[in-house]
Amino acid sequence: MSDPKDYERFEHAFDVEDPAFAEDFEGVLEHLVAKCPVAHSSVGPGYRALNRYEDVRRAGADWRTFSSADGWMLDPPEGNLPILPEDLDPPYHTAWRRVLNPFFKPSAIRDIEPHARRYARELIDAFAERGECEFVSAFAAQLPGLVLFKHLIPVPVDDLPALFREIDTYSFGAPAERAPAFGRVLQYLEGFLRARGEEPDRGDVVDAVLAGVERDGAPCPWADKVHTALDLVFGGLATTTHAISGAIYELAQTPEARRALLEDPTCLDTAIDETVRLHAPVVAVARTVTADVEVAGVQLKAGDRVALNYAAASRDPEVCSSPRKFDVHREEVVHTAFGVGPHRCIGENLARLEIRISIDEFLRRIPEFGLAPGSRPEFESGQLRTMKRLSLVWDPATLR
Ligand code: HEM
Repeated sequence: MSDPKDYERFEHAFDVEDPAFAEDFEGVLEHLVAKCPVAHSSVGPGYRALNRYEDVRRAGADWRTFSSADGWMLDPPEGNLPILPEDLDPPYHTAWRRVLNPFFKPSAIRDIEPHARRYARELIDAFAERGECEFVSAFAAQLPGLVLFKHLIPVPVDDLPALFREIDTYSFGAPAERAPAFGRVLQYLEGFLRARGEEPDRGDVVDAVLAGVERDGAPCPWADKVHTALDLVFGGLATTTHAISGAIYELAQTPEARRALLEDPTCLDTAIDETVRLHAPVVAVARTVTADVEVAGVQLKAGDRVALNYAAASRDPEVCSSPRKFDVHREEVVHTAFGVGPHRCIGENLARLEIRISIDEFLRRIPEFGLAPGSRPEFESGQLRTMKRLSLVWDPATLR
């Protein structure tokens, strides 16, 4: 967009699904952070989008005033069902996090690393000699699924392709297709959980979901267990695919970052944070205001819906100089890409591991590469954003 008026429109008519936003993601976010701390949207029931880091951080941490109980979706489709623990408030939310967190702590995730590295190498070996690939389908969309479904929620391998298709439709399909796709994944996971319930305990996260937690002093309903398994499945796929693709996209364009990472792997952690800061897979999530509160001079009333614009807050110049720059030497990377407060991403350690392995294994084998001439990455954008195509080329003579 070149005319400032095109950006001003988003102050009064913000819409995560707007194709112009998908097209000029950076420009719209930067405009909102600079000019409009609280934007207005008339989409669905209508909501306000909080765009600045400090406001998003404060609202995310204050779950009593900014409740998740009405769901994370800004414009939920007819018949939408909750995902848990995402659509819960403490104390029930805390009970679920307490039983799920141990499966995502660093020591648990470390056990997955050798397997994840092997999958990454095998995927890269399949295309390295060709000197080109469409990176999303060849790698970034595959690694998170292999890790999740082989190591955390071990569904039968034959079921995976159909499951992936349905999850993709729920996350990025036409609005009318999303609820039916959600229903089919729900039905599938319900069958999977029932079958696992008949088997001996393996002590894994599936058994923890099946054991459940207490709700109001009684065992939680069966449906809550199924909706918890759903969140783990939906939460970890397109998000991590986008971050892995984003990292390789940035490296394709910045030879000095590639060299820095090869010479000094301690820059890897910064590269991961820079990637999710710039390519935030969770653009925004909804909350409901429970008591009158003022944000950046705007009065919000109990019952108002707000969007925590995580993608905008991660580009706030108040906490990040030159926010558009992918800088693997940045001293401190401040962002909200993994969320803030009690809902902070449960899969963060796993996501970081997968992004790290992807960068590391790709660069080790293919140290020099770039975007295919004339190509641009393609995205799907809504409340979640993910890369759908990334065409890369390299000279096979430079392989290691
Ligand atoms: C780069 C990858 C990822 C990003 C950027 C990301 C981002 C986020 C964000 C922003 C939230 C907070 C939502 C809110 O405030 O309401 C969240 C929550 C969540 N994420 Fe992730 N996520 C990623 C990967 C994963 C993975 C790998 C998993 C699981 C395997 C996962 C599972 C979840 C779950 C279950 C929640 C809900 C937590 C709760 O409500 O307490 N995510 N994620």
